[in-house]
Amino acid sequence: MTTTLLPGDVIWRNGRLATLDPAIDTPYGLLEHHDLIVRHGKILAVTPALANPGCEIIDLQGRLVTPGLIDCHTHLVYGGNRAQEWEQRLNGVSYQQISAQGGGINATVKATRAASAEQLQHMAQQRLNALMREGVTTIEVKSGYGLNLDDEQKMLRVAQRLAQTNPVEIAATLLAAHATPPEYKGDPDGYIDYVCDTILPALWEQKLFDAVDAFCENVGFSVAQTERVFAAAQALGIPVKGHVEQLSNLGGSALVGKYHGLSADHIEYLDEQGVMALRQGGSVAVLLPGAFYFLRETQRPPVDLLRQHNVPIAVATDINPGTSPFASLHLAMNMACVQFGLTPEEAWAGVTRHAARALGKQHTHGQLAAGFVADFIVWDAEQPVEMVYEPCRNPLRCRVYRGEARFL
Ligand code: NIG
Ligand code: FE
Repeated sequence: MTTTLLPGDVIWRNGRLATLDPAIDTPYGLLEHHDLIVRHGKILAVTPALANPGCEIIDLQGRLVTPGLIDCHTHLVYGGNRAQEWEQRLNGVSYQQISAQGGGINATVKATRAASAEQLQHMAQQRLNALMREGVTTIEVKSGYGLNLDDEQKMLRVAQRLAQTNPVEIAATLLAAHATPPEYKGDPDGYIDYVCDTILPALWEQKLFDAVDAFCENVGFSVAQTERVFAAAQALGIPVKGHVEQLSNLGGSALVGKYHGLSADHIEYLDEQGVMALRQGGSVAVLLPGAFYFLRETQRPPVDLLRQHNVPIAVATDINPGTSPFASLHLAMNMACVQFGLTPEEAWAGVTRHAARALGKQHTHGQLAAGFVADFIVWDAEQPVEMVYEPCRNPLRCRVYRGEARFL
């Protein structure tokens, strides 16, 4: 290689690099005995060892290295919890019934509105710590429990503050179209007007989010209402994504495809037409096995169809108080394999390369390759499958964010 190294460069020498680079034709894009060269927080090169490089060298001693993990769908910021609601569900009350009684999402809206920004930040920090300890270096965080201008703003500012105070990149998503709040009860269209005309443009103006999401479902918003939100976002040049086909097949994925959305998330009820729409739209299918498990769903997402049509599959925690109270991406990978039949390699692609695409970051995140951010994890493990196989044993040895190492 011809690159001249500079004194500030750092060489991570002799790694077993699971690059997740699709251009490398080995399982996991594995390269044995390779170096990662880091300059200014980015990967400068992935290369066999160079002689006399003249810069700092950190010896990996053959350890396994992967890209930093990306959790591309979370509701990390929220007030309260819904443990009692869960108990009700186990006593036979359905998610839809609880939602109709003003429980469900609106119970968390009440708790989130009542909480101060400091309280929300403190609680979200605990969840973030758990994810960062597992090797997560990029995380998407949604609003959606404020449902008015001030409280959506409060949630997104908490996400912004978390990004400023932690070695992690946060992609914020406006999910104001998550549920109809009590003050608009019976008037979801009136609420959608408020989202499109007031919340969305005002918070975009403040640069508080990067994408717009909506919950397209019988207990959420119709396809027509969701489309109004997507159109408002598109008019401002904002990418969209959707909670779609989670509990029924409304056709929200086709809408995501039509708007070239970043991702369609949940998708248990997705059909082949919807799969083809995602393919045409260039959208990622995001699987959320924690919610499937916690809601005791039985309809599985159409993984074989997604494979046949080459739709990239991502995996995320969906951490939230109602349907997926699990701050573990390793667990989500395990569940995606056990419940949905993903291979461990697909699960890894789902929390790296494909998760990056679901955030529009596929050219800079989710692979160990030249030009990508220097976010990577050194593991005390032989094979990437180990973190998927045994999600409660965390073999993370060193977490590197933008070239800065933190040994645990
Ligand atoms: O991703 N499906 C809608 N939204 C969340 C659940 C939110 C809640 O129940 O608080 C989800 O599963
Ligand atoms: Fe969600």
